[in-house]
Amino acid sequence: MKNLSIGMFDSGVGGLTVLKEVKNLLPMENIVYLGDTARVPYGNRSPQTIIRYAMESSLFLLTKGIKILVIACNTSSAIALKILSKKLPIPVIGVIEPAAKTAVMTTKTNKIGIIGTKATIKSKAYERSIKELKPNMEVISKPCPLFVPIVEEGLEKDEVAFIMAEKYLREFRDSGIDTLIMGCTHYPILEDVIKKVVGEHVNIINTGKETAKDVEKCLKEKGILKTKGKGLCQFYVTDAPETFKEIGGRFLKSQISTVKYIKSLDFKDIIFRR
Ligand code: DGL
Repeated sequence: MKNLSIGMFDSGVGGLTVLKEVKNLLPMENIVYLGDTARVPYGNRSPQTIIRYAMESSLFLLTKGIKILVIACNTSSAIALKILSKKLPIPVIGVIEPAAKTAVMTTKTNKIGIIGTKATIKSKAYERSIKELKPNMEVISKPCPLFVPIVEEGLEKDEVAFIMAEKYLREFRDSGIDTLIMGCTHYPILEDVIKKVVGEHVNIINTGKETAKDVEKCLKEKGILKTKGKGLCQFYVTDAPETFKEIGGRFLKSQISTVKYIKSLDFKDIIFRR
């Protein structure tokens, strides 16, 4: 069991911001990562579609021998965490609760900003998590839908990233927030730009970093933490493996040697191909 992998999925390269943190914290673990690049972005889709995609990605990862599933996507965590936890035979960890916990613990002004996809913001999953922990918290949320395509296109250092950040985030400047949750796993790739716009005094929370700690805790509690050897990462995508390799490698600051292309996440195809 210990030697089985940690499974992770996202709509694209964004989940690599979670993988990076999990790898740093748990270098002995094997990780299987799926980027559903044929269907990115998830954030503008309906809850039914997001649930179907999440289910298909999880079933694919289960066929790869995983001991825990990390939903390396805020949109899928906001909409599908409950159902995946109920249906899958392994522990499932989402990215929302860990980030909400840290935000509540660190804010001094009791005013927290949240940025994410349209679906994540509309779901109010962060507000619920934050107010469950501390009901008197004030939350200001803002969807930033163009950040995901900017990251997927590798434009994080381009002028377009600054223009969009200014447009989406300037309202946070005088809002009194001292903490901002990057509620989309693509956004840490834009962290420098985000920081410049909202101001250095705002503490920016990266959902990946917080989630990695929860993954470690869960594996320890279940007695399935791998404590020997060097972990390996396998990457799968549903489209454009070369682009994923290039943008992902640049972000991880280490070359991704192989990215496997999967033609379909339809479960019948997955079973047939095995
Ligand atoms: N990275 C994902 C998230 O955290 C998905 C973004 C998208 O595909 O719209 O929400």
